[in-house]
Amino acid sequence: MAHESDQFGAKPAVLRCARCGRFVDWAEAYLQLVCGCRPRINLPPVLVREATDADRAAARQLFERDFRRTKIVAFGEVVDIDQMPALVAVMSEAPSGALAYRLMGDALHIVALATDPMWQRSGVGSYLLAEAELLARRLALRRLVVSTTNDNLPSLYFYQRRGYSLTDLVPNSVSAHTSKPVPGFAGIPVRDELRLEKRL
Ligand SMILES: CC(C)(COP(=O)(O)OP(=O)(O)OC[C@H]1O[C@@H](n2cnc3c(N)ncnc32)[C@H](O)[C@@H]1OP(=O)(O)O)[C@@H](O)C(=O)NCCC(=O)NCCS
Repeated sequence: MAHESDQFGAKPAVLRCARCGRFVDWAEAYLQLVCGCRPRINLPPVLVREATDADRAAARQLFERDFRRTKIVAFGEVVDIDQMPALVAVMSEAPSGALAYRLMGDALHIVALATDPMWQRSGVGSYLLAEAELLARRLALRRLVVSTTNDNLPSLYFYQRRGYSLTDLVPNSVSAHTSKPVPGFAGIPVRDELRLEKRL
């Protein structure tokens, strides 16, 4: 089992406020409903490709900011994000988002997905996910799977909006690895693993 500090530390500033643009910690972010009035952002062209050696440091930084560790527990295993192949989304120079993955039986496991807060809600995460799905099809896999934590409502929203369905709840699988409660999104204690899949 990985050391506790590698796994479930408090989470750093990772999300961008949709109203004022400030970067916030998980625990400082809240939900707000909007209608079709929400503004559009015009992006420069985004290129999604396999991470090169030169991209690895930037991808690592993106993942560390979100997960504050490189080892995470998912699907009953400790997985080192840093050792996984990754896709990166590049607009000008440094990657604006990254997706780490591994093959798991008939599935492509999305180990981690992170968009730089500066570029959130501008399509980067969707481009990365679409490329991972293309990759899974090319490899003749049947499913994509991903796990998230009970507090992470933005990612539950994000994946379900993109055709993923909940398959499992693993109660307390996260809190069992921590000595004290870790505040997650909006201060909700991080406790459980939620698994989702998309069948191809
Ligand atoms: C979850 C996460 C990866 C999503 O990444 P993202 O780059 O913001 O995702 P997208 O921009 O593709 O999509 C997010 C929303 O922005 C909207 N959007 C996309 N392009 C847009 C544009 N040009 N203008 C305005 N909004 C846009 C999308 O439509 C989507 O909303 P919708 O589902 O209501 O349609 C990101 O929030 C993140 O890094 N979170 C922290 C880490 C995390 O939780 N990872 C997931 C667990 S592995």
